[in-house]
Amino acid sequence: MTHIDCLIIGAGAAGLMCAAHAAARGARILVIDHARAPGEKIRISGGGRCNFTNLQAGPDNYLSENPHFAKSALARYTQWDFLDLIGRHGIAWHEKTLGQLFCDGKATQVVDMLLAEMRRTGADLRLGISAGAIDHGDGVFRVSLSSGEILHSTTLVLATGGKSIPKMGATDFALRIARQFGHRITETRPALVPFTLNGPALAGLKPLAGLSTPVRATTAATSFDEAMLITHRGLSGPAMLQLSSYWREGQEIAINLLPGQQAQSALRDLKTTAGRKSVSNALTALLPARLAAHVAARAGLTCNMADLGARDLDHLASTLTDWRLTPAGTEGYRTAEVMLGGISTEGLEARTMESRHIPGLYAIGEAVDVTGWLGGYNFQWAWSSGWAAGTAI
Ligand code: FDA
Repeated sequence: MTHIDCLIIGAGAAGLMCAAHAAARGARILVIDHARAPGEKIRISGGGRCNFTNLQAGPDNYLSENPHFAKSALARYTQWDFLDLIGRHGIAWHEKTLGQLFCDGKATQVVDMLLAEMRRTGADLRLGISAGAIDHGDGVFRVSLSSGEILHSTTLVLATGGKSIPKMGATDFALRIARQFGHRITETRPALVPFTLNGPALAGLKPLAGLSTPVRATTAATSFDEAMLITHRGLSGPAMLQLSSYWREGQEIAINLLPGQQAQSALRDLKTTAGRKSVSNALTALLPARLAAHVAARAGLTCNMADLGARDLDHLASTLTDWRLTPAGTEGYRTAEVMLGGISTEGLEARTMESRHIPGLYAIGEAVDVTGWLGGYNFQWAWSSGWAAGTAI
């Protein structure tokens, strides 16, 4: 039987961050993970370059039953604090788009940086180990490990993330343990995930698979102006991934193929300049050719641009700007970047991430009901919540 100050279960973004800061305060920290390597989601993130934060990160970029909960941690450990850490480790980075910051080199630099911080502060890491039964009494957590040991720890941090990508070892462990200790779990669902289509909607779009175009995508009064990618299963790309966090089964999504443009006046100009060109051909001035042909066919306009009357132009404008589709579903946890929902924030202290039910129990990162937009926001939550717990333990 070993006694330590703090056991952190999960060596992902939040757990590693928490460990380095808790150990810096002199606590004996052990991080365990059932995976063979730490920070696997960091390694594969951002196409291998890790979109590690966002310059615009703030509470408005997160979904939660309590939209105020994330404010404290995000304000106390900001994107600038993380940039400072990245800078101290000499990691070169660049802004891609919309405030999204990526490593110039490999994402593993971020994992190596967190491991270096843990070594510097003296936190221990054991891989290939999972936790089994956990009980709590007399101010101590007793944790059975797969190695057969029983560990005694004064504090316990749940940092096992969400349920997305089970093939990578994602589990609902944090949710189960939190529930065991009296915490409510909000509804969980895959988010930042591609939509699937079926029937005629899918058949109609199949010839366009692989095409990417800027759109304004809207559902449930929420819109995103980003790229849409048509896939052989349905709709993906940043605009659709963002929308998936707000969409619910049976809801329509509306797609504007001319975001930021006045469709009516763009089409009137086209009518004057395109002359005898077919509608499909003329629309290539505004859209990729395959999409232009699809829009003209959907509008049922086989004539020349110059022959369109005012009502035809109105009809074409709405075909372009108010394309309605009802997804059959999403690709689910198999490809979702994150899990929406999780351990309810009502049972946690926003400043420290400590349980309000069990002193010494903490929950951080994606396991908590705080889910960021696409674009570095989820890692920023992992850093901020990990820091909040790490500096409180
Ligand atoms: P995380 O999932 O990182 O870590 C949890 C750890 O717990 C894992 O190491 C796991 O092995 C371990 N674990 C799970 N169950 C366990 C158990 N029962 N026992 C022991 N260990 C257990 N975000 C972003 O901001 N920018 C980006 O570029 C990307 N890109 C991206 C790409 C892809 C493909 C995915 C799937 C996700 C992203 N994300 C992202 C989201 C981001 O990766 C995610 O939100 C954070 O990694 C969450 O950090 P956590 O530490 O909470 O969980």
